[in-house]
Amino acid sequence: MLSITTISLLFAGISLAAPATTTTTEVNGIYLNKCSSPRVRKSWQSLNTTEKKANIDAELCLQKLPADLGIRGAETKFDELQSVHASQTENIHWDEVTDAENILGSDLLDPVTGFGGNGNGTLGCVVDGPFTNHTVAIGPGYTIAPNCITRAVSDEGESGVAQHGSDPIVVAACMAPTNFVDFWHCVEAGPHSFGHGGVWGLMVDTVASPGDPIFYMHYGFLDKLWADWQENDTSTRYTEIGGNNVLNFSYPFPSGHIVDIEGLNITSELPRTLPAYDGTNLEAILAAIFGAARPADVPAPKTMGDPGSEVTLTHQLTSYGILPDLTIADIMDTKNSYLCYAYDS
Ligand SMILES: *[C@@H]1O[C@H](CO)[C@@H](O)[C@H](O)[C@H]1NC(C)=O
Ligand SMILES: *[C@@H]1O[C@H](CO)[C@@H](O)[C@H](O)[C@H]1NC(C)=O
Ligand SMILES: *[C@@H]1O[C@H](CO)[C@@H](O)[C@H](O)[C@H]1NC(C)=O
Ligand SMILES: *[C@@H]1O[C@H](CO)[C@@H](O)[C@H](O)[C@H]1NC(C)=O
Ligand SMILES: *[C@@H]1O[C@H](CO)[C@@H](O)[C@H](O)[C@H]1NC(C)=O
Ligand SMILES: *[C@@H]1O[C@H](CO)[C@@H](O)[C@H](O)[C@H]1NC(C)=O
Repeated sequence: MLSITTISLLFAGISLAAPATTTTTEVNGIYLNKCSSPRVRKSWQSLNTTEKKANIDAELCLQKLPADLGIRGAETKFDELQSVHASQTENIHWDEVTDAENILGSDLLDPVTGFGGNGNGTLGCVVDGPFTNHTVAIGPGYTIAPNCITRAVSDEGESGVAQHGSDPIVVAACMAPTNFVDFWHCVEAGPHSFGHGGVWGLMVDTVASPGDPIFYMHYGFLDKLWADWQENDTSTRYTEIGGNNVLNFSYPFPSGHIVDIEGLNITSELPRTLPAYDGTNLEAILAAIFGAARPADVPAPKTMGDPGSEVTLTHQLTSYGILPDLTIADIMDTKNSYLCYAYDS
């Protein structure tokens, strides 16, 4: 749904994965016990062809299963995930560091074993790979109009948004902050922008970007960066969270802001002219970004569980019924009972 900056503001850098065991409807900090045997989350590039095919087949399966939650515009289970901008039941992430200066050559974009390559033609529709004929039911923007998956893959990004964002030097710089908010700002400006801006097309649709299955691979990578950062000091970083819990378009990065990370200039947002945020004109800014105001039948993002305007461990995460609601405390450690996974490296 939202823009390169706003995705993380809404999600506080978090995406959800399905529970490893049976679903429970209990909420609020009940997943704090360790799980006994975490699943292993690998990088896409380390999978063999059979494993890659199984993953693609799972995506195609989600795109066939009928929707049943009554969510606006959603025809399949995949659409439901797109519509709430939550993540899917994935065990894989895209190792973007490997592809930082050669995104078009990425293994992920292979037309035979991967997600298909670039868009083509005037619409920029993806023309090879498993999602060639896939119809995206939701979007563009807030509209509900059948469209294709579009991409314009480039190391430069259309406006330099992708450039250098997941370079090893940037990722290393993002590991250095000792507090969550500085870490988040660095990831927001660099790696987060890279995945969206490098793929372009639907991936920079501020509302509908999860219609490209690559979206979930990208968030898998951001989740891994967070886990890597936590590993550096597990005594504090499984409880360290922060940042504003509502959209604030002048913070952390205004539109088109250039961030200097280790001498590399990262464009953290799509350059565009937006009204200045004054605390009351959020809908007007959203309308300027999305080309239309949020329709009345799209639920407003919920902000629940924090005592004030900062994200806290009791902040509630909702996927509008796809998965149980949770608190941030529940998902801080991926090896706790809800997420129950660890990374292979
Ligand atoms: C691929 O990896 C899986 C383990 O996840 C293994 O069982 C399988 O034999 C491998 N297939 C090939 C063709 O190497
Ligand atoms: C992309 O479109 C051009 C013509 O616009 C065509 O020559 C080219 O073969 C197309 N590439 C693919 C992969 O379909
Ligand atoms: C897409 O549709 C064309 C035309 O029906 C078909 O030839 C092709 O195999 C389809 N590709 C995929 C990946 O489904
Ligand atoms: C751990 O954190 C320190 C700063 O506290 C940083 O300099 C270092 O690069 C980090 N190491 C890793 C492996 O992330
Ligand atoms: C980053 O921007 C600064 C200021 O405009 C410029 O001096 C510098 O050369 C740029 N660095 C890179 C790597 O482009
Ligand atoms: C946006 O966030 C910044 C930093 O926390 C804050 O100074 C500013 O007042 C916020 N703007 C609004 C309109 O809330």
